[in-house]
Parts: sequence; C-alpha cells; structure tokens
Amino acid sequence: MAKDSSHFDRLGNHLLHPETLMLGYGYDPGLSEGSVKPPIFLTSTFVFRSAEDGRDFFDYVAGRKTAPEGGAGLVYSRFNHPNSEIVEDRLAVYERGEAALVFSSGMSAIATTILAYARPGDVILHSQPLYGGTETLLTKTLSNFGMAAEGFVDGTSVAEIEAAAHSAMRRGRVSLIMIETPSNPTNTLVDFSLVAQAAAIIDKTQMHRPTIVCDNTLLGPVFQRPLAHGVDVSVYSLTKYIGGHSDLLAGATIGRRATIAPIRQLRGAIGTQLDPHSCWMLGRSLETLSLRMRAASRNAEQVAGFLARHPRIKKVHALSLLPAQGKTREVYEAQCTGPGSTFSIDVKGGLAAAFKVLNALKVFKLAVSLGGTESLACHPGTTTHSGVPADVRERSGIGDGTIRFSVGIEHPDDLIADLVQALATLD
Ligand SMILES: Cc1ncc(COP(=O)(O)O)c(C=O)c1O
Repeated sequence: MAKDSSHFDRLGNHLLHPETLMLGYGYDPGLSEGSVKPPIFLTSTFVFRSAEDGRDFFDYVAGRKTAPEGGAGLVYSRFNHPNSEIVEDRLAVYERGEAALVFSSGMSAIATTILAYARPGDVILHSQPLYGGTETLLTKTLSNFGMAAEGFVDGTSVAEIEAAAHSAMRRGRVSLIMIETPSNPTNTLVDFSLVAQAAAIIDKTQMHRPTIVCDNTLLGPVFQRPLAHGVDVSVYSLTKYIGGHSDLLAGATIGRRATIAPIRQLRGAIGTQLDPHSCWMLGRSLETLSLRMRAASRNAEQVAGFLARHPRIKKVHALSLLPAQGKTREVYEAQCTGPGSTFSIDVKGGLAAAFKVLNALKVFKLAVSLGGTESLACHPGTTTHSGVPADVRERSGIGDGTIRFSVGIEHPDDLIADLVQALATLD
C-alpha cells in the first residue's frame, strides 16, 4: 500500500508512543470509505491500473528492482496485501525497526529467516534452551539439509559463548546466531553484547559476519527491543502475547530493510505469508498489547512471589525474582524493562508431583502455548520440550518437576487460590 498521511509517528518533536500508534498508524480511513477500522481484504489478487504497473510491481516483489519508499504495490496476496502491510508497519514502528514481515506461524517466521541466511555446510550457533520446536528445527530438521547446530547454555558467560563460537567455526561457516532471551521455559538470559562480540570474532576469523537473530516472543516488543542492542532480526511467535487471545497462529520478523529483504523474497517464494483475516485480528490485538502485557506481568509477579515462599517448590525461574546483584541482574537491567508473565517452577517430588499439581488446577488451564489472556500451565519435559534430547533438557534446567506457567489477566488472588488448592494435593 502506498505510504499515506497515516504514517506519522511524531507531532513536531514529540515522538508518539506505541500505545498511541497502535490505534491508527499505517491505515488511512479515507482509502476505505471512512471506515474507522480497516476492512479485511479477502482477495487473492489485485487489479493493476496498467500493464506497466503490473510489470513494475512484479519487478519490486521479485527483488529485481528496489521498491520506492511507498512500498512495492499490491500484486498477489502471497507477496503482500493491505492487512499484512498495516500490521507489518505497526510491528516495525513498535520495535523501532525499519521493516517487518508477518508469517503463518512463529515457526514459519523462524524457518524462513534461517533458510534465507544459512546454507548446506553452515553451522548455526545458538543459545539453549530454545523453544522445543526451534531446538528440533535446528538439531534435527535442518541437519537433514546439511546444516549443523552448536549450542551454549550460559548466555551471560563470555568464556562459554566464545568457546562455542570457536567450536562452531571448526565445523563450518557460522552464518547465523540464533538466541532466545528470556528463554522458554526457564527465563535464562542471553547477553546481547556478548553475542555481538562473538559475531565480531567470527567475522574476523571467517571474513563473514553471522546474522544475529533473537526470538523476542516472551517479552517483546513491550519489555524488550533486541534491535536496539545489536541484534539484526527480531523474530516472534505472534501466536503468543501479540495475538494475545489464544485464537490465532502467526509469526513475524523485524529488522533493517536490507536485512529483511532476502527473508521477504523467500517468504514470497515458499508461501509462508499470513492470511488477511489473521492479520486483521493481530491489528486489533496490537491496540491492547501494552495493557495486556503489563497487567499479566503484574499478576505474574504476585503469583511467582507466592510460589517462591511455598514449601513444596524447589525453585521459581521468574525474572521478577532475580537476585538484586550479579551478572544476570545486570543483563536484565540492560536489556529488559519488565519481567513478563511466563515463568517456570521446579516442584519437589519430580514428575509425579508435577502431574498431580497440574491435574488439580481449576482456574489455570492445562494447555501448551503462552501469552493469552487466560492463564495456562504445562509440563515442558513431556510436551513443548519432549523432542529435546534428555541430556540437553537436563543441561538447560528443564527437569521432571518443571511446570511452566503463562499468567493471564484474571484476578491474581484467584490464581493464587487455585495454586494453593492444587499444591495442597501434595500434602
Ligand atoms: C518462544 C517461542 N518461539 C516460537 C514458538 C513457535 O511459535 P508458533 O507456535 O506460532 O509456530 C513458540 C511456541 O510455543 C515459542 O514459545
């Protein structure tokens, strides 16, 4: 869609906040009969005003020519459509990136991004734990395409990250560094500055700087903006907080226009684009994103505090409970502006105890996924992370007694009352 008067993000010198921009940025009601909300453009293809337009627009979407500032022109919904462009512009402005792309799921965003930058024979350096699907993609699926993966667990240790970088370089060209911070489900942090340092070492040694990709699903864009810390591409499962109501599947990548360009090409080629209806739903969800994430984060802080004092709990992996001093606290203060609402606990008594608690919950729903308005609980070791080899799970702190919570926007007293009664079954 051509850029119009709705693409303004400041009044004079006053920079508008994302909470304001999410209500109107990138959509001009004048182009749609004055409709306050964007219509859903349920069309697979777009009429060109002339054959010359058709030729030019195809050159733009195929990457043969650079599109003008206003965009590539609408061609065919696998490449672009008005609903995806509105959401992409809003996601980009939220994280202050130059451009964004939406995808049919978080995994298709991650897979399309990796395949745009990694080739057979390459090695992907990555943090651990990663979401189980990403770990499986790197270590199993992509190994079938001749790509290798090299993991590091302590993302705040310069020695561990650099050792992993050197080990990866011995195996092949390191074309991509994939990190997830905070990690799902243990909330471990990766220091962006150490990853940038590792990328510089790899660049110097291999004469090729790897692209740094960060899965920003757990905190972003409200509580974390990796692009401001040297990360090249922020990737999201929009299914989680941004969609926010557990009623859609979607993903996104955000970054500089030139960095995003090959990912855009590949998305068009393999068709990992998101449909207009889901894009419209995301636009509506973005209007309340900040409200929802802040409310859920406040709730989670109370719930995590309660659990940390409970005698049946060994450990609570929540950013709200980080020690006041130390390396992890420093990384948190430098990178994050809030703890979010996904965290895990280790229950005393292992698998049997964890299952007993999960089966007794009444307000928390027993389901995978996170970031919705409702609170969810799951057992990562046997569900989301069941495909991760046992030794990797153990190394990254996902035990038999680990339960993951995604805290929603219910009243926190009700969530705590639910946990009181569920934990009482262990007495
Ligand atoms: C951190 C993280 N990244 C990526 C994904 C994959 O997203 P999707 O299910 O939308 O493909 C998930 C899903 O749980 C996730 O938690």
